[in-house]
Amino acid sequence: MLRVGINGFGTIGKRVADAVRAQPDMTVAGVAKRTPDYEAEIAHDRGYPLFAAEDERPFAAAGLDVCGRVRQLVAASDVVVDATPAGVGAQNRELYQDLDTPAVYQGGEDADVAPVSFNARANYDAAVGADAVRVVSCNTTGLSRVLAPLDERYGIEKVRATLVRRGGDPSQTGRGPINDTLPDPVSIPSHHAPDVQTVFPDLAIDTMGMKVPSTLMHTHAVNVTLESVPSTDSVRDLLADEDRLLLVPERLGIDGAGKLKEYTRDAGRPRGDVWENCIWAESLTVEPLADGRADCYLFQAIHQEADVVPESVDAVRAITGVADRDVSVRRTNEALGIGRGLAGLDPGHSVRPRDAASDD
Ligand SMILES: NC(=O)c1ccc[n+]([C@@H]2O[C@H](COP(=O)([O-])OP(=O)(O)OC[C@H]3O[C@@H](n4cnc5c(N)ncnc54)[C@H](OP(=O)(O)O)[C@@H]3O)[C@@H](O)[C@H]2O)c1
Repeated sequence: MLRVGINGFGTIGKRVADAVRAQPDMTVAGVAKRTPDYEAEIAHDRGYPLFAAEDERPFAAAGLDVCGRVRQLVAASDVVVDATPAGVGAQNRELYQDLDTPAVYQGGEDADVAPVSFNARANYDAAVGADAVRVVSCNTTGLSRVLAPLDERYGIEKVRATLVRRGGDPSQTGRGPINDTLPDPVSIPSHHAPDVQTVFPDLAIDTMGMKVPSTLMHTHAVNVTLESVPSTDSVRDLLADEDRLLLVPERLGIDGAGKLKEYTRDAGRPRGDVWENCIWAESLTVEPLADGRADCYLFQAIHQEADVVPESVDAVRAITGVADRDVSVRRTNEALGIGRGLAGLDPGHSVRPRDAASDD
């Protein structure tokens, strides 16, 4: 059993801890945070050994037992997942290196925090044997999952994506906008394009970012110019075969992120989490261009609190070399129930019109 320490027990860290606990080959060595708030109480309730990121005294004053400082947690771990706020991970790097503990960082860190920027679908093997990896951000994860199969099957000439991002997570009470629609950043490309290139170094991609008054999910409007001309049905079949892409059929009547979240809550997903990209099936459109190219369009929703969680679990297996990609992804998916348990979307349930036939 791999002993996994989780440094930072907020939005991402608490989900990673629960996901690690669900794996047959991993155990939670402990979790660390700074303050004895409701999330510390949750960690305690779940039986996770709790460590103080800085000072134990506030925990003692709140009546919460801690097992020591974060250094002790790292020493007791085979791998550490750093889920501290953006920039804090880089400050922790010396500690992990000092204790010779492989580290999985999150996408809020700069790419140079680790030698590999990681997405399980796109570049699992690049992380095998590395001493540290950075799981790319929620948006980059969402784009990587959909671009990898398109690039492998059809070749990609150019990607143009507009990312309409939630203003903040539900727990981020200080974030906004409250009543506005912001180009964010105003400059083009947004930082997402270079981040995607940390996973696909040769990919031509431009991104535009926006922020809107929502906490639910991000929505991507994606246009991919392909180097060949598949039919819409073949692209739909290709994407429907991917583990972490859900093609949401029109007949379910899911018209936005609100119903997507309601749907996964109804299905009994923990916290209503949506680990997969949700692609609106009827948005998937391929328009042939001259000279053997085609434009592929789609809308997808990305649950920012959840999609990096299975990737973080796979990153743990990749850097420790305990499993290859297929084994790790299958194990993670089975343990979490990814791609399962959603009425109308279980494996084998066609998202295509029943009489449509594939042309390849
Ligand atoms: N939230 C998202 O939508 C999202 C999506 C993808 C990736 N990410 C990335 O994931 C990382 C974590 O983000 P998050 O949203 O989970 O942050 P978060 O909700 O603010 O949680 C951060 C956690 O780290 C703890 N912490 C703060 N300072 C610390 C320190 N010096 N040492 C150890 N722990 C410390 C916090 O504890 P206290 O509360 O006790 O201070 C809290 O438990 C960031 O790199 C972020 O960019 C976030």
